[in-house]
Amino acid sequence: RRKTRVQHLQQMKAAGDRWAMLTAYDYSTAKLFEEAGIPVLLVGDSAANVVYGYDTTVPITVDELIPLVRGVVRGAPHALVVADLPFGTYEGSPQQALATAIRFMKEGGAHAVKLEGGERVSDTIATLVAAGIPVMAHIGFTPQSVNTLGGFRVQGRGDAAEQLIADAIAVQEAGAFSVVMEMVPAELAGQVTRKLTIPTVGIGAGADCDAQVLVWQDMAAYTSGKTAKFVKHFAQVGDQLRGAAAGYADEVRRGVFPGPEHSF
Ligand code: KIV
Ligand code: NA
Repeated sequence: RRKTRVQHLQQMKAAGDRWAMLTAYDYSTAKLFEEAGIPVLLVGDSAANVVYGYDTTVPITVDELIPLVRGVVRGAPHALVVADLPFGTYEGSPQQALATAIRFMKEGGAHAVKLEGGERVSDTIATLVAAGIPVMAHIGFTPQSVNTLGGFRVQGRGDAAEQLIADAIAVQEAGAFSVVMEMVPAELAGQVTRKLTIPTVGIGAGADCDAQVLVWQDMAAYTSGKTAKFVKHFAQVGDQLRGAAAGYADEVRRGVFPGPEHSF
């Protein structure tokens, strides 16, 4: 099996082959996704929510994310591992972004970075690409800007469609190897996908994107709580794990576990 590289994603776009991306935040989970053949893993700043328990992705730091990247890279040797640049670590200038991205590559072992924004970050994308860092862009709903976007809502409706298309073209021209589109009407996402030569990765952006991404805890129903419309549960891992913990505790209380077969 080959190691996934950005060129392979480009070839899949040309061939019309769709692929799936998942988030991962630790060694053991990354290893399972590697075994499942997932070609691209994202150490998302969604770790803010699902690993650290923050309400938004705004507070997470580079120091909180880099150790997670290390674990994922070790667990999934064939995956292309993309690391999210956290809020406040790249918006100041292309130089700030470069310094942050270099930390993710050198200290984390990431193969690429992702950052949020379209036209407004195109200079930054160009700077990173010129330095040899593959960049995945992220447009549409960008969670780090939740405070200016007015909450979790679909982007690119009505007149905003033109700006979304302009953002997609800008990140491609700046050299991004791929672009995530989050919560964008399916028809618009399809239009952008056909217009671009780089692969689009949808989340809440319909079936016409070149690839899809989900937070793995959403994909596997690991967490309880309300589920976004764009999420599908492919397993009930949360119920399984809660049941396992309860069953274990119950057997310990009743003196059933450990049995003679577990004892020396
Ligand atoms: O942080 C994240 O998990 C993401 C994906 C959902 C695209 O940015
Ligand atoms: Na993210």
